[in-house]
Amino acid sequence: MTLLEAVDVRKFYGETCALDGVSLRVDAGEFVSIIGPNGAGKTTLVNVLTGLTVPTSGRVTFKGVDVVGATPVRLARLGMARSFQLVTIFPGLSVGETLAVAALARLGRSARPFTALARDLEVRAAVDDVAALFGLADKLGRAARTLPQGDKKLLDVASAFALHPDVILMDEPTSGVSTADKTVIMETLVQAARRMGIRAIVLVEHDMDIVFGYSDRIVALHQGRVLADATPAAIRADAAVVATVLGIAAVPGPTQPATVSNSPPTGEPAPRTPLQ
Ligand SMILES: Nc1ncnc2c1ncn2[C@@H]1O[C@H](COP(=O)(O)OP(=O)(O)O)[C@@H](O)[C@H]1O
Ligand SMILES: [Mg+2]
Repeated sequence: MTLLEAVDVRKFYGETCALDGVSLRVDAGEFVSIIGPNGAGKTTLVNVLTGLTVPTSGRVTFKGVDVVGATPVRLARLGMARSFQLVTIFPGLSVGETLAVAALARLGRSARPFTALARDLEVRAAVDDVAALFGLADKLGRAARTLPQGDKKLLDVASAFALHPDVILMDEPTSGVSTADKTVIMETLVQAARRMGIRAIVLVEHDMDIVFGYSDRIVALHQGRVLADATPAAIRADAAVVATVLGIAAVPGPTQPATVSNSPPTGEPAPRTPLQ
């Protein structure tokens, strides 16, 4: 079942063509990664898919509903949430309050003074649930801005998960953190997605170990176009993608993680599917 679909999307910024006829489908159960060099259009594509950016032309539907230019609240109600490439931590809020803002949006409540919020059992339960899934339970009272970078990223992703979306889109959730922290973040969010019953993940990611280790499907963008849209095994075997997007050194080699299949595309066992 197709959840999210973009058809022939174009986006111009003045003379710059950021997206040049991109079509993309995300089905239930899929973990889809979007890769490509800087400036390829990855963030613009996520922005178009999540309503933030109105495309110059083309169509975007979520569960069959037109979502071009839709507000975050409308998308959250439909079942779509996202995290950002740059963490948006409200400077004045604690970890618990940051998660409460997202929980409030999901529960359809208007924001109220946080003193009242703290007594709201439904909001507190929602905050406690998501904090537990993301290892933030013992940091709820801490000012969000004082968290280490890895925890800030987790908080940003957790805020999106607090909306209990069907589909979550994440723009480089592991950027700016150490390799060890990257692994923690990815394992945490995949576990949380499974436990919450999230139906599909769209990930923009530069780390090819992560991309090849987790994805059911990889969409390679180059200069605003889809260069390839295929399984990790097929992407690895695609000379044009390897040369243009990945660079030989960046393709996970013999030291790749155990989750990455080394077999050729034909006759290989079904790849690991993180959401199933
Ligand atoms: N708000 C904007 N105004 C003007 N140009 C933009 C804007 N956002 C992106 N671009 C341009 O669109 C192209 C794609 O950018 P982006 O989607 O950020 O790529 P990526 O995320 O793959 O690095 C780039 O050439 C970038 O300079
Ligand atoms: Mg980007």
